[in-house]
Amino acid sequence: MIGNRSMSTLKTRQNLDDWTPLSWREFPVAQAPAYPDPEHLERVTNRLSTLPPLVSSWEVERLRERLAEAAVGKRFVLQGGDCAETFADCTPGAIANKLKILLQMSLVLVDGLKLPIVRIGRIAGQYAKPRSSHIEKRGEEELTSYFGDLINGAEYDRNIRTPDPERLLLAYYHSSMSLNFIRALIDGGFADLHHPEYWDLDFLGKAGMTPEQRADYTRRVGALANSVQVMEIIAGRTIDKISSVEFYTSHEGLSLPYESAVTRTVPRRSGYYNMGCHLPWIGERTRALDGAHVEFFRGIRNPIGIKIGPKTKAEDLLRLARVLDPDREPGRLVIIGRFGAENVRRVLPNLVESIAETGRQPVWMCDPMHGNTTATKSGIKTRHYENVLEELLASIDIHEETGSVLGGVHFELTAENVTECIGGASGVTEDDLTTRYETLCDPRLNYEQAMEMAFAIARRMEAKS
Ligand code: PEP
Ligand code: CO
Repeated sequence: MIGNRSMSTLKTRQNLDDWTPLSWREFPVAQAPAYPDPEHLERVTNRLSTLPPLVSSWEVERLRERLAEAAVGKRFVLQGGDCAETFADCTPGAIANKLKILLQMSLVLVDGLKLPIVRIGRIAGQYAKPRSSHIEKRGEEELTSYFGDLINGAEYDRNIRTPDPERLLLAYYHSSMSLNFIRALIDGGFADLHHPEYWDLDFLGKAGMTPEQRADYTRRVGALANSVQVMEIIAGRTIDKISSVEFYTSHEGLSLPYESAVTRTVPRRSGYYNMGCHLPWIGERTRALDGAHVEFFRGIRNPIGIKIGPKTKAEDLLRLARVLDPDREPGRLVIIGRFGAENVRRVLPNLVESIAETGRQPVWMCDPMHGNTTATKSGIKTRHYENVLEELLASIDIHEETGSVLGGVHFELTAENVTECIGGASGVTEDDLTTRYETLCDPRLNYEQAMEMAFAIARRMEAKS
């Protein structure tokens, strides 16, 4: 779909009078594989727009308040999950494990940072992936690349790779089932701070944390459970509000037919809410100022993330901030830097300072994964734990040095014991990568590497205070 609105329209973008959930269609759409039957797509999006929402506007508003606090250093965001979720992975075990690892990491962070943690999963909707090429060629054959289960299937087969609108509905159903289970676990007491022992993962011990990490984790969790009890003794009652945790969902808002179909108004509030998740984000490949994604995102009420890579120019970021957050609403804009360990010191300080000069206070987050992807000699996509950690620590330094606030971190991780990233205390080597390489897209930190990362952040931030 090629757009036809002129650049001059952009100047008036501050104004939402000309915005509708479908106004993006008049702009160039990046990363949009063509559907062979547009009418079928229309039927599906019409149906999608009548289904009950996955999240509520209250939750979305509450997340915005939480993010406003993260922007000024009163909270810290932990966002994480798979690079790409798959329908096949929508199982009770996989979902519970993803929730557990985020809860465990967040406990380590609560204890280290002495701040409330905002937990946001890349979960219950992270089904679409941008690709460097629309086409995958094998021999003489050319098929559409795999764009995630939302769009097509991964198997290299013409039928399966053809974009299928029914997948939008399937994605919505799988998101709904995942979120339903997450909500049930949380409401049922799984995330109750009185019972952090529920969060132990089955393989703790031998293949899980190192003995030192296990001891550190047990100490930190014990200290937290203790403080909950002390507070309850002082209050003379059970403190329900703190005994359970909040959990939010996020995904890249790549497929605009899907995102716009789940966007609607709600009674007694003005504006349109994207009801497919709490925090949708715009990816590095789709954030063109004059593109359809920016047009769509500027009109929704949700807080929004924007990923920025090492080539980002300060003036472009400022323009994006003006278009996406014209009213400078606290908690509206989450800027997720993914620069790479070798670039972060060169690029981030200027971006942080340029934004600060305008008086804006977005949530600055560090995604130390996407700028550190490399390939082995045999062509396996991987990331080195050391590079991921280096970018993260450099980002913390840069925000300190510039008087800014790092509001959170963004990881691709899994609770499974996969071998996709190299390094860390467990010493996954290049040769190990083939043992358990399961991601359909980018390499994720495994359980041990993810916990090690949480400990590293906690120690670094403890040192600060
Ligand atoms: C992702 O988060 O999986 C992704 C594709 O990120 P980016 O847009 O930063 O490359
Ligand atoms: Co990724």
